[in-house]
Amino acid sequence: MKTIKNCKLLNLHEIGDYRGKLIALEEIKDYPFKAKRIYYIYGCENNIRRGYHSHKRTDQLLICVNGSCKIYLDDGMNKEDVLLDNKSIGLIVGRDVWHEMYDFSKDCVLLVLASELYNESDYIRNYEDFLKYLRNK
Ligand code: TYD
Repeated sequence: MKTIKNCKLLNLHEIGDYRGKLIALEEIKDYPFKAKRIYYIYGCENNIRRGYHSHKRTDQLLICVNGSCKIYLDDGMNKEDVLLDNKSIGLIVGRDVWHEMYDFSKDCVLLVLASELYNESDYIRNYEDFLKYLRNK
């Protein structure tokens, strides 16, 4: 993964034995914030694209716990597409990163841990406003 500001891929520690596998995530220790909110996205058609926003203060950890999808990231300078198709890989999408989710497999379940409660005023949903916000920071 190229350098996108506030973004990082995490290798999540898999605990496995003959019974199957388990991944445990502890705030701060395993991901760099405390999660106040958890949500998951599923049942997406392959040809739809979601997201189209950045956050002013929310940091998030995305894990594709089933199937696959792609995440487009743009920090105002660099842009990158990341494929999430592995349950033991997490993607930190920090604040101030424009992101879009697409190319969902039919069985995709995208789990998201978020550092803040849902608050629409934390969103920037217009790309020009996003660039303006970064310039004025
Ligand atoms: P939206 O931001 O459009 O989703 P995406 O980022 O996947 O494109 O959110 C869809 C709807 O769900 C919208 O009405 C806001 C609501 N919502 C909540 O109520 N709580 C949440 O934590 C999230 C992420 C969305």
